[in-house]
This record gives sequence, structure tokens and C-alpha cells, in this order.
Amino acid sequence: MSASNNSSMVQTIHARPEIGLKKFDIHHQETEFEFKEYMAVKAKRVHEALEEAVPLRHPLKIHESMRYSLLAGGKRVRPILCIAACELVGGDETVALPLACATEMIHTMSLIHDDLPCMDNDDLRRGKPTNHKAFGEDVAVLAGDALLSLAFEHIAARTIDVPQDRVVRAIAELGSAVGSEGLVGGQIVDIASEGQWVDFSVLEYIHLHKTAKLLEASVVCGAIVGGGQVSDVERLRKYARCIGLLFQVVDDILDVTKSTQELGKTAGKDLVSSKATYPKLMGLDKAREFAEELGEQAIDELKCFDAAKAAPLHCFANYIAHRQN
Ligand code: FPP
Ligand code: MG
Repeated sequence: MSASNNSSMVQTIHARPEIGLKKFDIHHQETEFEFKEYMAVKAKRVHEALEEAVPLRHPLKIHESMRYSLLAGGKRVRPILCIAACELVGGDETVALPLACATEMIHTMSLIHDDLPCMDNDDLRRGKPTNHKAFGEDVAVLAGDALLSLAFEHIAARTIDVPQDRVVRAIAELGSAVGSEGLVGGQIVDIASEGQWVDFSVLEYIHLHKTAKLLEASVVCGAIVGGGQVSDVERLRKYARCIGLLFQVVDDILDVTKSTQELGKTAGKDLVSSKATYPKLMGLDKAREFAEELGEQAIDELKCFDAAKAAPLHCFANYIAHRQN
């Protein structure tokens, strides 16, 4: 999808910016859903499961470092998406929880490595000193490696009451999302593009791989272990790709509109580092319009599902479009 042809695919479902009790309309059905409460409950479950998955044990230093970043209080977007997709296709939360935790472990490790001096050289993440600032570069690299390895071990060892073929499909999906044609691919093109003029197709490649792939895999894996039919899984893939791209477009907008304190990470650094971003390529107003369109397009992919069951994913699209940090 590109910014230029995107508007033709946009439907006229109007996202509301406020988070909390929402009324929305799919198939002319009015439904009410407490999104804020849903997020809080799921985030708490995920946090407890992560805490249990990485106990403080020997060797102490590495587990301290892993826990420092993993339990630093991120928004838990990927794990909650994973659980919501599983529940949408009729699966139980417990079935998706190990996978959900794995997506957060991978996300956290990618941020630890992204912040390293050899990458973005950042000092602040989730309102705290970055992992290498707190533990040193050597420990931070290893903490990232250990989290990546643990993510796959955790899925294989902890996913219970799910047919094995579904677990294997989910592992393959997640593995491809983080590798050289996924997150790593997006990051390498991002690094190579720094200081260069890039067009929309390169920028879209970076965002779709660096950010959207893991969000997509979180949703798709949740739907797979929840027992979703192939057609539903693929529809949810399209939904997730839109919100994945949306997530990064909003990230680019926040970088130039919010303060370091509001973001909990260094603001304005895309400008300083001469990174390509949507606001730079299309201007702030057009980037905002594009974000709005992506949110609406994502919601459109949910039309064929039961409105009440799709409520969490529907609200998620609004939440990502209008998040403030
Ligand atoms: C943040 O982007 C970084 C990412 C979304 C992913 C970075 C990926 C890697 C470092 C590869 C990790 C390795 C594996 C094996 C998954 P940003 O710098 O634009 O955003 P920020 O402002 O939050 O730092
Ligand atoms: Mg960075």
C-alpha cells in the first residue's frame, strides 16, 4: 500500500479520538465497549506472566538486565493484540498468553539493541536510562540475545492445549517476522538510509518491516493458536499491517510534536539524525491524514466479524491512531 493510492481504499467509518467507553458502528450495530478497562486487565495479566517467565536467578546480572527492560511498563500493545485476535476467533486467553509474552520479549530485545551506541545511541527508554546505560553495552547485547531465545523457548514449552501444527505455524510466522526479511531487514534498510534521500517505497519498506511485521505476527499468531480459519487469519493480517504502519506513522508524528518528558524517550531525534519520516516526506498535516486513513482502513478489515467480538481490535485501531506517547 502506498500513501498515494491509499485514500481510494478508505471507508467512511469515523474513528473517535477519545479512549475509554466507546460507541461504534459496524454493520449499523451500536455496541459499547470499555476499552480502557480491557487494556488495563490484559496488561496486568501480561505483566504478571512476564514477571514469572523471567525470575531473578543465577546469573543475577543478566536476569536483572532482562527484567529491567521487560518489566519497565511498556504499553503491551503486541501481547494484547495477540490475545484479542485469539479471542476474536473463539480461542481462550490462556491459549495465547505464552505467545503474547513472546511478542513482548522480542519487542523489548529489539528496543534494547536499537538503543545501543552502534545503532541509535539513545539514553532514555520508557522513561528510564536505556539498558546499556544502566548495565553496560556487553550486558545489554546479551540481555537482548537471551530475550530473543527465551521468546521461542517460552512458546514451545508453555503453549498447552493447542494442536501442535498450530504452534509450529505460529513459531514459523514469528521467526520470519523478526529475521532478515522482517524486523532485522527493516532496521538494516533504516540504518543504510540515514542521511540519504529516500522515496515513499523505501520509507514504507522500513516501517512495514521494522514495526509492522511484529504487530502483524502478534495478531496472526493469536488467530492461529485460537483456531481461526485461514480466511479470517488473512483478513486479520491485513488489519494488522494497517495498524502496524499506522503505529510507525504516529511514532514519526509524535517525535516532532511531543516533548521528551511526554514520550518517555528522546523527542526530536529523527530530525537530528536525518532519518526519513512521514512528516518529513509529506508534511505534518498530510502525515496526520494518512494516519487517519490507515486507521479507517484497518477497521474496514474487521467488518466481516461479529461487531461485539471485534470491539477490542476496533478500539485498538483508534487507540493507536490517537495515542499521545
Ligand atoms: C525502534 O525504531 C526500533 C525498532 C522498531 C526495531 C529495531 C530492530 C532491531 C534493532 C533488530 C533487532 C533484532 C532482532 C533479532 C529482532 P525507532 O528507532 O524508529 O524508534 P524509537 O524512537 O522508539 O527508538
Ligand atoms: Mg531508535
